[in-house]
Amino acid sequence: MAKTRERWGSRSSFVFAAIGAAIGLGNVWRFPYITYQNGGGAFLIPYLIALITAGIPLMILEYAVGQKAQSSPPTALKTIWKKSEWIGWFAVVLVFVLATYYATIMSWCVNYFYQSFTLGWGNTPRAVETFFNQTLLAKSGSPGILGGIQLPVLIGLAVTWLLIYLCLFKGVKTLGKIVYFTVGIPWLILIIMVIRGLTLPGAMEGLNFYLTPDFSVLLQPKVWLAAYGQIFFTLSLAMGTLIVYASYLPRNSDITVNAFITSLANCGTAFLAGFAVFSTLGYLASAMGVTVPEVTTSGLGLAFVTYPTAINLLPVASRLFGALFFLLLITLGIDSAFSQIEPVVGSIADKWGFNKRKVLPLVVLTGFIVGIPYTTKAGFYWVDIIDHFVCTYGLTLIGFLECIVIGYFFKASRIREYINSVSDVRIGPWWDVFIKIVTPIVLGVSLIYELIKLIQKGYGNYPVWTAFSGIGLIILLIVLSFILSRKRGNL
Ligand code: PFF
Repeated sequence: MAKTRERWGSRSSFVFAAIGAAIGLGNVWRFPYITYQNGGGAFLIPYLIALITAGIPLMILEYAVGQKAQSSPPTALKTIWKKSEWIGWFAVVLVFVLATYYATIMSWCVNYFYQSFTLGWGNTPRAVETFFNQTLLAKSGSPGILGGIQLPVLIGLAVTWLLIYLCLFKGVKTLGKIVYFTVGIPWLILIIMVIRGLTLPGAMEGLNFYLTPDFSVLLQPKVWLAAYGQIFFTLSLAMGTLIVYASYLPRNSDITVNAFITSLANCGTAFLAGFAVFSTLGYLASAMGVTVPEVTTSGLGLAFVTYPTAINLLPVASRLFGALFFLLLITLGIDSAFSQIEPVVGSIADKWGFNKRKVLPLVVLTGFIVGIPYTTKAGFYWVDIIDHFVCTYGLTLIGFLECIVIGYFFKASRIREYINSVSDVRIGPWWDVFIKIVTPIVLGVSLIYELIKLIQKGYGNYPVWTAFSGIGLIILLIVLSFILSRKRGNL
């Protein structure tokens, strides 16, 4: 099967695709906010340590597994240790669930992009909030009350899935060309947004707020866990994406340099996005005559309420900057979105020998249908709940299992020998220590810490049954993974 395996057109296509998967919506709203919430400039220390001790070692590992096995996550892990195929399936089903709500957030971006030409979200802070909460999402007040479907969100979702399909259907070679645009365009827009942000009055207040270090936070475990969580999410680790992308590289391709380039490009972009976001928030605060913390909202509210409010107040070309900002989010998000679908399609095709072209429309259609509940009036809450359980428990658990299987069953030193035999930069035994000890300990501790917190406080302000649904979903996905791994395949 290695003979007929699809190939990237060039090494840079692969690197751009991996960078595109990494840089996504998470870089624009999640990184700046998490940084400011966890000690500002001081947070960069745990962030960099997490990158070096877990991010890069695990990325090297995932590249090595995909490239060595020349196969998608389930079958690749099976070649490492027979009994670990289910872990690969667990990553695949989990990333599919992630894709269904990620596409919903993309749908909101598509709607905002459409509105940006007329600044249709209104021109006062209150109006923007009403637009997001009432007009677009019509939030029902509780995850239990689904209400009806919001047609614009459903249409945006269909557009997103169509885009995903169009990017993937021609195969990996064409994908390798598309990613030059989906990575290049957002970089260009981001530079424009940074320059625009930094030249606005009040920008420095925003940057002070973003970067002023509060070193006392480094003593808090939660700050370290936030740093590791962010690194996992942002680099798209433990989701099968990197394994499947690397499997389209020839077996003798470089691994370590590719991993360094991908992770540094991603983290550098996140850092830069912080300048665009916080300089603009500084401007918003000064225009409204309040302090920066008063205008800073967390998570999704930052991109869909606070930022559009700031755009409204721009002295010139606010429509243009509105459109640019949401085009930035769409182009940033789309290559992350299709990187979540490729492992699903590749895994089914690899295990049962199906043609990827036939599998893709089925996966896309199923993804769209599974995502419909997120377009209801309770959709916002479910995006938030499922995101929490998928990222906090699923992702951490898979990262932990990968380290154990590869570190102990396959032996870290054996895979390191392979990595060094093909890479320009050699890695030393320090890598084994990170894979066998440091990363699994950090992930194990973080899992236990989060579980205790969940038992004590539940998740967010939602009813208790939602936490059971979240944990139930993870258990269901594990069972499904076992079933899929038991099914007979061609490999
Ligand atoms: N890294 C992406 C982001 O920062 O938005 C999210 C993501 C993409 C997670 C692909 C997982 C994945 F497989």
